[in-house]
Amino acid sequence: MGNHEFRLPHHSPTALPGEIITTMRTQLSFAPISGIETELLAVLAADTQTSNTSDAKPQPALLTADAAVLAAVKAVLASGEFKAGANETMLLHAPAGLAAKRLLLVGLGKQAKATAHAVRSAAGTAVRFIKPRGIREIVLVLPESDPKMLPHTASVRAAVEGAFVGDFDPDTYRSDRKDQSVESFTLAVPAGADLTALEAAFTEAIIIGESQNFTRSLVNEPGNKLTPTILGARAALMAAEVGLGCEVHSTEKLRELKMGAFWSVSQGSAEPPALIVLRYEPEGVKDGSVLGLVGKGITFDSGGISIKPSDKMEEMKTDMAGGAAMLGAMRAIALLKPKVRVLCVVCAAENMPSGTAQKPGDVQTAMPFSADKPGKTIEIINTDAEGRLVLADGLTYARQLGATHLIDAATLTGACVVALGHVTAGAFSNDDETWAKFDAALSTSGEKFWRLPLGEEYAEMIKSDIGDIKNTGGRWGGAITAAEFLKVFVEDTPWIHLDIAGLAWVEDPKPWIAKGPSGVAVRSILEWVRRF
Ligand code: BES
Ligand code: MN
Ligand code: ZN
Repeated sequence: MGNHEFRLPHHSPTALPGEIITTMRTQLSFAPISGIETELLAVLAADTQTSNTSDAKPQPALLTADAAVLAAVKAVLASGEFKAGANETMLLHAPAGLAAKRLLLVGLGKQAKATAHAVRSAAGTAVRFIKPRGIREIVLVLPESDPKMLPHTASVRAAVEGAFVGDFDPDTYRSDRKDQSVESFTLAVPAGADLTALEAAFTEAIIIGESQNFTRSLVNEPGNKLTPTILGARAALMAAEVGLGCEVHSTEKLRELKMGAFWSVSQGSAEPPALIVLRYEPEGVKDGSVLGLVGKGITFDSGGISIKPSDKMEEMKTDMAGGAAMLGAMRAIALLKPKVRVLCVVCAAENMPSGTAQKPGDVQTAMPFSADKPGKTIEIINTDAEGRLVLADGLTYARQLGATHLIDAATLTGACVVALGHVTAGAFSNDDETWAKFDAALSTSGEKFWRLPLGEEYAEMIKSDIGDIKNTGGRWGGAITAAEFLKVFVEDTPWIHLDIAGLAWVEDPKPWIAKGPSGVAVRSILEWVRRF
C-alpha cells in the first residue's frame, strides 16, 4: 500500500477536472416582446391539430399573444413549411415589425403533448441551434399559460433546465475547441404573469441546470484525469463552494471500517480508493429522517481479472456516473435547501487487473453494520461485477451513519441495458411508499425510470455454497440479481436502486443534447429529496 498516497494530476495547470465551465448569463425580461433588441428571438409553437387521421394537416400555432410576432410569422405558418413538430426549427431573418435580428420558431409537437419534457427539449434545441452558427445570445419567449398548456412556473423550470442542458458540449480536451457557449440566455415573460413565483422557479432551474452539468462534466472526464483521488478532491471543492460538510477518506479508513467488499475492487489498482462523504444538515428540522444517497464511483472499469473485451471498453470511464449524479444532486440540495437531512456516500475506485487484483473464487468479507455482527461473506465469481461490491459497503456505511431511507444510483449492469435500451433506466425498491414518492418525482424531472421486480426466487440465484452470497447470479435476470445483491445490505431500510447503465452516456446526439454524458438521475433524485 506504499504507493497509495495522494497524487496530483499530471495535466491540471489551472483547474481540477470536472469544474463547471458554464459561463452563460441568464436573466428574465418583462419587456414587450416585439421591442426586445436581440440577435435572436425564439418562439415556441405547438401543433393544434386534434385529429389523428393521416390526412389531417398540421395546424401550427405560436404560443405567444404578441401581435407583432404573430404578424411576422403569418405567411410562413400559412405556407405549411413549418409544422411545429417536436424540436422542428425554422429561422427567419429581419422579421418585420420586431426589434430582434432573427426569429427562430421551435416546435413542441402536438399541443396535447406539450409537456414540461417538450418545453425542456425545445429550449435545448434552440440553444443548440444557435451554438454552431456563432450566435451568442438568445431571448426565448415563455409560452402563454393557456389552460391547455403548462403553468408558467413549470414552463420556466423546463425552459431554463433545457437551455443549460443544451449549452453543454463535451469537447474540453480538443485543441481546436471553439468555445461556442451561449453568453446570454434571456427568458421573456408574457404580461400578467406572477413575477415572484416566476423568479423563484427561474433561480431554482439555474441551480438544477448547473448541477446537472456539473455531473456531466465529471462523467466526461477520462479515467487518467479523474482518478478516485481527484473525484474526491473535486467533491470537496464543490462541498466547500456550496457549504456542505465533507470528508474524503482512503485506504486506511476502509481498513478501519472493515470495508472488505469495497477494498477488494480497489486492491488491484495503483490508484487508492476514495470514500467520499457529504452531509447536508439544515437547521431547525424536527423530522428524524435522514436520506442516504449512495453512488457507484468506479472511475474506470476494465473488468479486473475477468477482463472486458476491448470493444467499447473506453466507455467504462463513465462507470462513476451514479456517484457523479449523487454529487450533482447534493450540490443542488445545498443550494435549494430542502427541510430534510441528507447524507451522501460515494465509493470511488478503479477496477484493474494486476498482481494484487482480486481473483474469481476469492472470498471477501463485507463491512459489518455493527461490531457484534460479522460482515457477510461474498464469493467472487466475476471481478467485473464490482459495482455491487463497492455499493454493498457504501450502503452499510450510510446506514451506520444514520440513513433512515436509502437511494443508490449506479451504472450497474449490461443486463439492464438489454432489457430497457438507452431509453429508460431501471429502478428497484423494497418499499412501495418510498417508490411512490420517487415515481411522483419523475413527473417533474421528466426522466424515465421503470420499476423492475425483486423476489425470493431471484435472491436464491445469488446464494453461494462457499460463502453467504456470490457476486453474480448468471446471465438471466442480471439487473435483478444485482439489485437482490444490494438488497442484502440495505436489510429493512426503505430503499430505491437506480440502474442507469444505459442512460449515463448519450450515444446518438439529439437536437437538444450533445453526444456524451447525460447527467441522468440528478433531477429525479433531487426532486425525490425535495418532496420528502
Ligand atoms: N459497469 C458495468 C456495467 C455497464 C455495462 C455499464 C454497460 C454501462 C454499460 C458493470 O460493472 C459490469 O461489468 N457488469 C457486468 C456484470 C456481470 C459480470 C454479472 C455486466 O453487466 O456484464
Ligand atoms: Mn464491471
Ligand atoms: Zn462497473
